[in-house]
Amino acid sequence: MEIRFNFDMLFDERLKEHRFDENRLKDMRESLRRAKEEVLSELKSQKRGFSEILYNDQILDATLKLSKEISGRYKNLVLIGIGGSSLGPRALFRALRHPFHNFLPNREEGMNLFFLENVDPDTFRATFDVIDEKDTAFVVITKSGSTVETMSQFLIIRDRLIKKLGENGYRERMIAITDPQKGTLREIVRHDRLCSLPIPENIGGRFSVFSPVGTFPAACCGIDVSKLLSGAREMNEKILNSDIDNDPALKFASLMYIARTHYNRNILIVMPYKDSLLDTAEWFQQLWAESLGKERDRDGNIVNTGSTPVRALGVIDQHSQLQLYIEGPQDKVVMIIGVKEFNNTVEVPLALENFPDVSYIGNHSLNEILKIEEDATLQSLINARRPAFSIELERVDEANLGALMLFFEFATAYSGSLYNINAFDQPGVEHGKKILYRALKKPGYF
Ligand code: PA5
Repeated sequence: MEIRFNFDMLFDERLKEHRFDENRLKDMRESLRRAKEEVLSELKSQKRGFSEILYNDQILDATLKLSKEISGRYKNLVLIGIGGSSLGPRALFRALRHPFHNFLPNREEGMNLFFLENVDPDTFRATFDVIDEKDTAFVVITKSGSTVETMSQFLIIRDRLIKKLGENGYRERMIAITDPQKGTLREIVRHDRLCSLPIPENIGGRFSVFSPVGTFPAACCGIDVSKLLSGAREMNEKILNSDIDNDPALKFASLMYIARTHYNRNILIVMPYKDSLLDTAEWFQQLWAESLGKERDRDGNIVNTGSTPVRALGVIDQHSQLQLYIEGPQDKVVMIIGVKEFNNTVEVPLALENFPDVSYIGNHSLNEILKIEEDATLQSLINARRPAFSIELERVDEANLGALMLFFEFATAYSGSLYNINAFDQPGVEHGKKILYRALKKPGYF
């Protein structure tokens, strides 16, 4: 694992009156100590399971065994899930597979992977324009076991498979990932005698990427899940063995807490300089927003916590949103996620020397241009007194991505403690669900 955290930029003199004050961190030492103690003790007592799963060989072995069987039999995997049940696997797939993975001719690269997340009938229908059910396995993922968007699509596919390929054809192709005991999907698994993998009871949707939710689809499409988990374990050990001054996740959580509570910076821009990390930014967006956006603290007081995560992509958004970040309201912190090494080096040729306006680009590489632009963005933000910092991955690989995602999970859990809120529930979205259930005439809701 090689990740560098450059938080010091938040204290850069050039930020002038918008520079973060080190004394704020010193004043927080007692709450930082408490936050760390609380999160570690909840993990130790198994109230939360998002790091314990990294060491669960039984679940990993079952996941790898099933993925080997399924990828040996079928060409495509269609994932049916939403929120925490799809954002993690999608982040892994986009970061760690070829950008046009599903078009590669060679099956050695792993199964093609498709996502059915939204209940958009056109996306649903379009998926079946490019896959043939005979060559395809399906994985339905839902922790609760009854999410409308997921289960509606599951019902359609179940019906379709039974009609086209018979009960056995359906049973052989459908895998379920859900709570080990509870929920309607678990009951359906028993009723339909489906293959399944568990999401441990103490892991909530948005913290589930290292459970079979993330690892099963990843393994099916050829990602080295053992390396992913070992990178995450390395980060876990680093966090567990650091004191409050050297824990990078606690540092990130505390700085973002200060940004929100002392400097009224309630927007966090997440800007990777790497196309393949855009879905990781989307995964982080859910983790941060759904965990920390809360009306009440744990004592019942109205607090309306959270900061709004916004994903952006370098350099694309330099030509789009950056103007706002540099000159708009002073309400943001910008997190740049950079990458040092790319898989490829692409040189720009020296040509068209009579056109000095473009020929100067020759003899540079795209790698160099991207890196210079990343640095230029950071420098221009700081010079414009806009707080920004960077996280740099040596390269995007399984180990570094695993470490980065676990880092963000810890940071989110710590932030929950700092705000004194429950980072693991989502009461705000329940109301909308009840309206939906009433409109669809779910028993008990109308
Ligand atoms: O983080 C969460 O708990 C949610 O975002 C869920 O992942 C999302 O609502 C989907 O839920 P389920 O996995 O139960 O279908």
